[in-house]
Amino acid sequence: MRVLILGGTHFLGRHFVEQALNLGYEITLFNRGKSNREIYPDVEKLIGDRKKGDLESLKGREWDCVIDTIGYMKNLVQVVEESTHLLKDQVKHYTFISSIETYSEVKPNFDETTPTRVNQKKTLATRYGVNKALAEKINNRVFGTKALNVRAGLIVGKYDKTNRFSYWVKRVEKGGEILAPVGYEYPIQLIDASDIARWVFKMINQGKGGDFNVTGPDYKLTIGQILNTCKEVSKSKGEFTWVSNEFLLKNKIGQWRELPFWTTSDQLLLMTNSCNIGKAIAEGLAFRQLKDTIIDILEWEKIAPKKYNYGFAGGLNPKKEQKLLEKWKEFKDNQ
Ligand SMILES: NC(=O)c1ccc[n+]([C@@H]2O[C@H](COP(=O)([O-])OP(=O)(O)OC[C@H]3O[C@@H](n4cnc5c(N)ncnc54)[C@H](OP(=O)(O)O)[C@@H]3O)[C@@H](O)[C@H]2O)c1
Repeated sequence: MRVLILGGTHFLGRHFVEQALNLGYEITLFNRGKSNREIYPDVEKLIGDRKKGDLESLKGREWDCVIDTIGYMKNLVQVVEESTHLLKDQVKHYTFISSIETYSEVKPNFDETTPTRVNQKKTLATRYGVNKALAEKINNRVFGTKALNVRAGLIVGKYDKTNRFSYWVKRVEKGGEILAPVGYEYPIQLIDASDIARWVFKMINQGKGGDFNVTGPDYKLTIGQILNTCKEVSKSKGEFTWVSNEFLLKNKIGQWRELPFWTTSDQLLLMTNSCNIGKAIAEGLAFRQLKDTIIDILEWEKIAPKKYNYGFAGGLNPKKEQKLLEKWKEFKDNQ
């Protein structure tokens, strides 16, 4: 199979590349040639800048499928409009990596029939969801039954630069007293990037499209289970101190980013723990064991380039964590 990947050199895209290589597919990457240029020396690379509408190098070529990983561009809708139109007669199947943030308002166990965002509001998070929703519509219009829109939840695994799930893996490995939010039963959904790639290739091979929620796992996962699995895998001697919402709010801890997974927003909580993934599971979505994801991350973190994380990477500053743990003792004593 001939696979075109728009992107392919940061995080999720790399999981697509590596699985395609394992499956013996012929791969072409299209990007600006700026990020991680040295990786995949034997893979064909076409250069172009989608932000500027420069798709020249894609012209006159044919592939069996394209996987479009582009996410955060301000002009996302325009770039997807341009790439779908250019490629409509050059590829048979178009996968667009979307997000569960396409939904305007979620309810417990929300599925794909939940209304998607339409109103352009000013916040970055809202614009992201609106753009993803509009881009999905373009894909569906141009590629019809061969348009696959992957509404991904929290994506984790090796190569992740956001330091959200990886923060916990590294923090637990380090050991000591670990500040953890709320309680063992705090629920969370997430998916290993390689599970997404495996499932998408399955769908492409069957020529299937549609809008799908794609997160995991297929059982109720809690932060307690995650942290304990991290502890087991890294053989850490760390101990968890569960601190309350009230304490975290009082200390103005940044939700989700400064303390990954923690939020008091009802919508964000539902978004990250109540997504119905039955439709994708019925189409063969399957999940690696959590411990295997953690092993991968620990191995990757040993060799990851020093400045690999994003500037806005998540995680509590170690000194701040220490201070908070001391404050927590006083706070508890005064309750
Ligand atoms: N992380 C999560 O939890 C999460 C959740 C839901 C959805 N998502 C979505 O998942 C996707 C993940 O993206 P990723 O960063 O992991 O993908 P990736 O394909 O690994 O990396 C992004 C690629 O885009 C290329 N690129 C950037 N600007 C470009 C431009 N102007 N023209 C052409 N190519 C350009 C980059 O290469 P160059 O810099 O060399 O151009 C890079 O290869 C995004 O769509 C995101 O919205 C993520």
